[in-house]
Amino acid sequence: MVTCMIAIEGLSFSYSDGTRAIEQISLAVAERSSVGIVGANGAGKSTFVNHLNGYYLPQEGSISIGDIKVCKKNLDRIHKVVGLLFQNPDDQLFTARLYDDVAFGPENLGMKRADIARLVEDALRELGLWELRDKAPAHLSQGQKRFASFATVLVMNPEVIIMDEPTADLDPKNRRKLINLVNGLKKTTVTVSHDLDFIWDTCQRVCIMNQGRIVADGAARDILSNRALLEANHLELPLRLQR
Ligand SMILES: Nc1ncnc2c1ncn2[C@@H]1O[C@H](COP(=O)(O)OP(=O)(O)OP(=O)(O)O)[C@@H](O)[C@H]1O
Ligand SMILES: [Mg+2]
Repeated sequence: MVTCMIAIEGLSFSYSDGTRAIEQISLAVAERSSVGIVGANGAGKSTFVNHLNGYYLPQEGSISIGDIKVCKKNLDRIHKVVGLLFQNPDDQLFTARLYDDVAFGPENLGMKRADIARLVEDALRELGLWELRDKAPAHLSQGQKRFASFATVLVMNPEVIIMDEPTADLDPKNRRKLINLVNGLKKTTVTVSHDLDFIWDTCQRVCIMNQGRIVADGAARDILSNRALLEANHLELPLRLQR
Protein backbone atom coordinates (compact mmCIF):
# COMPACT_ATOMS: atom_id res chain seq x y z
CA MET A 1 0.00 0.00 0.00
CA VAL A 2 1.25 3.48 -0.83
CA THR A 3 1.34 5.72 2.24
CA CYS A 4 0.88 9.46 1.82
CA MET A 5 3.74 11.27 3.56
CA ILE A 6 2.91 14.87 2.62
CA ALA A 7 -0.70 15.99 2.14
CA ILE A 8 -1.35 19.58 1.10
CA GLU A 9 -4.80 20.98 0.49
CA GLY A 10 -5.74 24.41 -0.83
CA LEU A 11 -2.57 26.13 0.38
CA SER A 12 -2.33 29.85 -0.37
CA PHE A 13 0.03 32.49 1.02
CA SER A 14 0.49 36.26 0.73
CA TYR A 15 3.47 38.24 2.01
CA SER A 16 2.85 41.27 4.21
CA ASP A 17 3.38 43.63 1.24
CA GLY A 18 0.40 41.97 -0.47
CA THR A 19 2.35 39.71 -2.89
CA ARG A 20 0.26 36.61 -3.50
CA ALA A 21 3.11 34.08 -3.69
CA ILE A 22 1.23 30.78 -3.75
CA GLU A 23 -2.30 30.09 -4.80
CA GLN A 24 -4.44 27.04 -4.02
CA ILE A 25 -1.77 24.36 -4.02
CA SER A 26 -2.96 20.81 -3.41
CA LEU A 27 -0.50 17.95 -3.58
CA ALA A 28 -0.08 14.47 -2.14
CA VAL A 29 3.42 13.01 -1.94
CA ALA A 30 3.85 9.28 -1.35
CA GLU A 31 6.24 7.99 1.29
CA ARG A 32 9.78 7.45 -0.05
CA SER A 33 8.95 9.12 -3.36
CA SER A 34 10.93 11.97 -4.90
CA VAL A 35 9.22 15.06 -6.28
CA GLY A 36 10.93 17.88 -8.16
CA ILE A 37 9.47 21.40 -8.15
CA VAL A 38 10.51 23.53 -11.11
CA GLY A 39 9.50 26.95 -12.37
CA ALA A 40 10.76 30.37 -13.35
CA ASN A 41 12.27 32.89 -10.93
CA GLY A 42 9.53 34.22 -8.68
CA ALA A 43 7.11 31.35 -9.43
CA GLY A 44 6.66 30.72 -5.69
CA LYS A 45 8.80 27.58 -5.28
CA SER A 46 10.72 28.68 -2.18
CA THR A 47 7.64 30.17 -0.56
CA PHE A 48 5.88 26.86 -1.13
CA VAL A 49 8.57 24.49 0.16
CA ASN A 50 9.36 26.73 3.13
CA HIS A 51 5.89 25.78 4.35
CA LEU A 52 6.73 22.09 4.49
CA ASN A 53 8.62 22.26 7.78
CA GLY A 54 6.55 25.11 9.19
CA TYR A 55 9.00 27.94 8.43
CA TYR A 56 5.90 29.61 7.01
CA LEU A 57 2.59 28.50 8.48
CA PRO A 58 -0.45 28.04 6.23
CA GLN A 59 -2.60 31.16 5.97
CA GLU A 60 -5.22 29.30 3.94
CA GLY A 61 -5.43 25.55 3.47
CA SER A 62 -3.56 22.81 5.33
CA ILE A 63 -0.45 20.63 5.32
CA SER A 64 0.06 17.31 7.08
CA ILE A 65 3.30 15.36 7.31
CA GLY A 66 2.28 11.79 8.02
CA ASP A 67 -0.33 12.24 10.73
CA ILE A 68 1.12 15.53 12.03
CA LYS A 69 -0.60 18.75 11.01
CA VAL A 70 1.76 21.64 10.30
CA CYS A 71 0.78 24.29 12.87
CA LYS A 72 2.50 26.26 15.59
CA LYS A 73 1.93 23.79 18.40
CA ASN A 74 3.37 20.87 16.38
CA LEU A 75 6.55 22.59 15.19
CA ASP A 76 8.94 20.55 17.38
CA ARG A 77 7.48 17.31 16.03
CA ILE A 78 7.55 18.59 12.45
CA HIS A 79 11.21 19.61 12.76
CA LYS A 80 12.13 16.06 13.77
CA VAL A 81 10.43 14.60 10.71
CA VAL A 82 11.19 17.24 8.05
CA GLY A 83 14.63 18.60 7.23
CA LEU A 84 14.72 21.72 5.05
CA LEU A 85 17.74 22.87 3.08
CA PHE A 86 17.17 26.60 2.53
CA GLN A 87 17.93 28.21 -0.82
CA ASN A 88 20.33 30.55 0.96
CA PRO A 89 22.84 28.72 3.22
CA ASP A 90 23.21 31.90 5.31
CA ASP A 91 19.67 31.21 6.57
CA GLN A 92 20.82 27.80 7.81
CA LEU A 93 24.23 28.45 9.36
CA PHE A 94 24.33 30.76 12.33
CA THR A 95 26.99 29.70 14.86
CA ALA A 96 30.68 30.68 14.85
CA ARG A 97 31.96 27.16 14.17
CA LEU A 98 30.86 24.63 11.54
CA TYR A 99 30.90 21.76 14.06
CA ASP A 100 28.49 23.63 16.35
CA ASP A 101 26.05 24.30 13.51
CA VAL A 102 25.87 20.59 12.72
CA ALA A 103 25.64 19.64 16.42
CA PHE A 104 22.88 22.18 17.10
CA GLY A 105 19.93 20.01 16.00
CA PRO A 106 20.97 16.81 17.83
CA GLU A 107 21.78 18.85 20.97
CA ASN A 108 18.27 20.33 20.86
CA LEU A 109 16.86 16.82 20.82
CA GLY A 110 18.71 16.17 24.07
CA MET A 111 20.81 13.30 22.70
CA LYS A 112 23.79 11.90 24.62
CA ARG A 113 27.13 13.65 24.02
CA ALA A 114 28.83 10.57 22.61
CA ASP A 115 25.98 9.97 20.17
CA ILE A 116 26.03 13.61 19.05
CA ALA A 117 29.80 13.46 18.47
CA ARG A 118 29.45 10.33 16.34
CA LEU A 119 26.54 11.69 14.27
CA VAL A 120 28.22 15.04 13.65
CA GLU A 121 31.47 13.39 12.60
CA ASP A 122 29.62 11.01 10.24
CA ALA A 123 27.68 13.87 8.60
CA LEU A 124 30.77 16.06 8.20
CA ARG A 125 32.86 13.20 6.83
CA GLU A 126 30.13 12.13 4.41
CA LEU A 127 30.16 15.61 2.91
CA GLY A 128 33.94 15.96 2.92
CA LEU A 129 33.86 18.75 5.54
CA TRP A 130 35.49 17.11 8.55
CA GLU A 131 38.77 18.99 8.07
CA LEU A 132 36.82 22.26 8.09
CA ARG A 133 34.93 21.54 11.33
CA ASP A 134 36.52 24.38 13.32
CA LYS A 135 36.06 27.00 10.62
CA ALA A 136 33.51 29.81 10.86
CA PRO A 137 30.63 28.97 8.51
CA ALA A 138 30.67 32.58 7.31
CA HIS A 139 34.20 31.99 5.99
CA LEU A 140 33.39 28.86 3.99
CA SER A 141 33.22 29.00 0.20
CA GLN A 142 29.73 29.02 -1.33
CA GLY A 143 29.86 25.33 -2.27
CA GLN A 144 31.24 24.42 1.15
CA LYS A 145 28.36 26.37 2.74
CA ARG A 146 25.89 24.42 0.61
CA PHE A 147 27.30 21.10 1.81
CA ALA A 148 27.55 22.41 5.38
CA SER A 149 23.82 23.21 5.26
CA PHE A 150 23.19 19.73 3.95
CA ALA A 151 25.17 18.28 6.88
CA THR A 152 22.88 20.11 9.36
CA VAL A 153 19.92 18.36 7.71
CA LEU A 154 21.50 14.90 7.29
CA VAL A 155 22.67 14.75 10.89
CA MET A 156 19.04 14.76 12.05
CA ASN A 157 18.17 11.78 9.83
CA PRO A 158 14.67 13.15 9.06
CA GLU A 159 12.13 11.03 7.18
CA VAL A 160 11.42 13.88 4.76
CA ILE A 161 14.09 16.07 3.16
CA ILE A 162 13.23 19.31 1.35
CA MET A 163 15.99 20.83 -0.78
CA ASP A 164 15.82 24.29 -2.32
CA GLU A 165 18.44 24.68 -5.07
CA PRO A 166 20.81 22.09 -3.58
CA THR A 167 23.22 22.13 -6.55
CA ALA A 168 23.72 25.90 -6.64
CA ASP A 169 27.45 26.65 -6.26
CA LEU A 170 28.56 23.00 -6.47
CA ASP A 171 31.43 22.02 -8.74
CA PRO A 172 30.75 19.12 -11.16
CA LYS A 173 32.32 16.50 -8.90
CA ASN A 174 30.38 17.61 -5.82
CA ARG A 175 27.19 17.89 -7.91
CA ARG A 176 27.70 14.24 -8.93
CA LYS A 177 28.39 13.33 -5.29
CA LEU A 178 25.10 14.98 -4.29
CA ILE A 179 23.19 13.04 -6.98
CA ASN A 180 24.58 9.78 -5.61
CA LEU A 181 23.89 10.81 -2.03
CA VAL A 182 20.29 11.87 -2.74
CA ASN A 183 19.60 8.71 -4.73
CA GLY A 184 20.84 6.61 -1.82
CA LEU A 185 18.68 8.36 0.79
CA LYS A 186 15.57 6.12 0.76
CA LYS A 187 13.51 9.00 2.12
CA THR A 188 10.70 11.21 0.91
CA THR A 189 12.28 14.13 -0.93
CA VAL A 190 11.02 17.36 -2.44
CA THR A 191 13.62 19.16 -4.53
CA VAL A 192 13.41 22.64 -6.01
CA SER A 193 15.93 23.30 -8.74
CA HIS A 194 16.66 25.20 -11.92
CA ASP A 195 19.11 22.39 -12.70
CA LEU A 196 16.66 20.22 -14.63
CA ASP A 197 19.34 17.60 -15.27
CA PHE A 198 19.68 17.19 -11.50
CA ILE A 199 15.90 16.84 -11.22
CA TRP A 200 16.01 14.26 -14.05
CA ASP A 201 18.66 12.28 -12.17
CA THR A 202 17.03 12.38 -8.72
CA CYS A 203 13.23 12.71 -9.03
CA GLN A 204 10.49 10.30 -10.08
CA ARG A 205 7.84 12.98 -10.36
CA VAL A 206 7.90 16.67 -11.31
CA CYS A 207 5.54 19.59 -10.69
CA ILE A 208 5.84 22.84 -12.63
CA MET A 209 4.93 26.04 -10.77
CA ASN A 210 3.85 29.22 -12.51
CA GLN A 211 2.60 32.35 -10.72
CA GLY A 212 2.07 30.52 -7.45
CA ARG A 213 0.18 27.56 -8.87
CA ILE A 214 1.10 24.00 -9.77
CA VAL A 215 0.27 23.94 -13.48
CA ALA A 216 1.66 20.50 -14.42
CA ASP A 217 2.31 17.33 -12.43
CA GLY A 218 3.52 14.03 -13.82
CA ALA A 219 6.30 11.50 -14.31
CA ALA A 220 9.62 13.35 -14.32
CA ARG A 221 10.76 12.14 -17.71
CA ASP A 222 7.43 12.99 -19.37
CA ILE A 223 7.37 16.51 -17.99
CA LEU A 224 11.07 17.20 -18.50
CA SER A 225 11.04 16.05 -22.13
CA ASN A 226 7.96 18.11 -23.06
CA ARG A 227 9.56 21.11 -24.75
CA ALA A 228 6.30 22.95 -25.43
CA LEU A 229 5.13 22.59 -21.81
CA LEU A 230 8.50 23.72 -20.46
CA GLU A 231 8.72 26.71 -22.80
CA ALA A 232 5.16 27.78 -21.95
CA ASN A 233 6.40 28.01 -18.37
CA HIS A 234 9.64 29.91 -19.13
CA LEU A 235 11.79 26.78 -18.83
CA GLU A 236 14.03 24.87 -21.22
CA LEU A 237 14.71 21.20 -21.85
CA PRO A 238 17.37 19.64 -19.60
CA LEU A 239 20.81 20.06 -21.18
CA ARG A 240 21.06 16.33 -21.91
CA LEU A 241 18.03 16.62 -24.25
CA GLN A 242 19.25 19.75 -26.03
CA ARG A 243 21.85 18.08 -28.22
N1 LIG B 1 9.76 38.30 2.03
C1 LIG B 1 9.03 38.60 0.97
N2 LIG B 1 8.21 39.67 0.97
C2 LIG B 1 7.46 40.00 -0.11
N3 LIG B 1 7.45 39.29 -1.26
C3 LIG B 1 8.25 38.20 -1.31
C4 LIG B 1 9.08 37.80 -0.22
N4 LIG B 1 9.77 36.70 -0.58
C5 LIG B 1 9.38 36.41 -1.84
N5 LIG B 1 8.47 37.32 -2.29
C6 LIG B 1 7.78 37.33 -3.60
O1 LIG B 1 7.03 36.12 -3.70
C7 LIG B 1 7.10 35.61 -5.03
C8 LIG B 1 7.63 34.18 -4.98
O2 LIG B 1 8.96 34.22 -4.54
P1 LIG B 1 9.79 32.88 -4.29
O3 LIG B 1 11.05 33.25 -3.61
O4 LIG B 1 8.91 31.89 -3.63
O5 LIG B 1 10.07 32.41 -5.80
P2 LIG B 1 10.97 31.23 -6.37
O6 LIG B 1 10.11 30.45 -7.31
O7 LIG B 1 11.59 30.49 -5.26
O8 LIG B 1 12.06 32.01 -7.22
P3 LIG B 1 13.65 31.72 -7.49
O9 LIG B 1 13.69 30.71 -8.61
O10 LIG B 1 14.16 33.05 -7.95
O11 LIG B 1 14.27 31.24 -6.23
C9 LIG B 1 7.96 36.56 -5.83
O12 LIG B 1 7.11 37.42 -6.54
C10 LIG B 1 8.74 37.34 -4.77
O13 LIG B 1 9.00 38.65 -5.20
MG1 LIG C 1 13.53 30.24 -4.65
